[in-house]
Amino acid sequence: MQMEEKRFVLPDAVVLNEHEDSITILDQTQLPAKEVYLTIDKEADLIEAIQKLRLRGAPAIGVAAAFGVYVCFARTSASITSPEVLEKHFQGIANRIRASRPTAVNLAWAIERMTSVFHHSLSGLAEVKPEDFIRLKDVLREEAIRIKNEDITMCRQIGEHGVSLISKGSRILTHCNAGHLAVSRYGTALSPIYRAQELGLAPKVYADETRPLLQGARLTAYELMKFGIDTTLVCDNMAASLMGQGLIDMVMVGCDRVAANGDVANKIGTCGLAILAHYYHVSFYVLGPSSTFDAHTPTGKDIIIEQRPAFEVTDLHYAHRMAPEGVKVYNPAFDVTPASLVTAYITEKGIFTHF
Ligand code: MRU
Repeated sequence: MQMEEKRFVLPDAVVLNEHEDSITILDQTQLPAKEVYLTIDKEADLIEAIQKLRLRGAPAIGVAAAFGVYVCFARTSASITSPEVLEKHFQGIANRIRASRPTAVNLAWAIERMTSVFHHSLSGLAEVKPEDFIRLKDVLREEAIRIKNEDITMCRQIGEHGVSLISKGSRILTHCNAGHLAVSRYGTALSPIYRAQELGLAPKVYADETRPLLQGARLTAYELMKFGIDTTLVCDNMAASLMGQGLIDMVMVGCDRVAANGDVANKIGTCGLAILAHYYHVSFYVLGPSSTFDAHTPTGKDIIIEQRPAFEVTDLHYAHRMAPEGVKVYNPAFDVTPASLVTAYITEKGIFTHF
């Protein structure tokens, strides 16, 4: 049985517009108070949107990067006839978008796919004629659409596999937002939950608020409630209390990069949950598409962890600054959960306990 598209009252996280010269995203920094859509057709605006987390979540930034490369290349390259100059111009766009956030591998992965089809189409040309330029644009657009469609399929399959772990009324703790807003459609950690709801299993979700940027409170609670799922918001430091009382059946989280040894980079706080889950004998599942699994990064120690500005901790979600001026702040966006704490990885290919 397939998920019903009509359940998803939210648009896809990244949409290529009708004229195929811009993308539209829902500005996630304004949720849940306002649903504001942004049209993006410039590289600087895309990079700003990714860095400010207007669009976030590993698969979604990969898809946005792919469309961004296409849109920016199509808009700025028409007058270039030298293949060498065009190649350099393309590479500049690709490199700058790739550098916008370091941890989620989906971003680099999508850029590499776009680069590969571009090189393939450019190779052998002595001069770039108008018809060559049209062909180059076409292959880039088609590859970006393919990346998005593959992501939709993978997320749906993650839901199909993951739902086998959910029973009637299962109580699931999740962290950050690994849902519809973080991917092309459905989600990773939330995809089985949507599927379970469709099947009448009535899952109960505890959403960690996810300090400091509150993706759990603002985004996960927002999208789960839109779909009528029983959602309880908890502060990050309440997980031990819940697990200790036997109120959590499993933890389901997404991932930004899974190293070759199975170590998992995900939103800061994930590792603490994994340690608690281990202590309380609660299953800890990591859900992600194969585009998040990075065979080129040997272990979690090799993953670059993004550091974010201090004001996100001291000011951003407070009416007034809540910490003394001048205090030092540590604000890593992600942490690394050792593979030994993961009960199973759920991908579009199935459920894997060994890595
Ligand atoms: O900083 P964010 O909001 O982009 O972090 C997102 C996460 O950590 C998600 O869990 C991860 O990207 C998986 S999204 C399907």
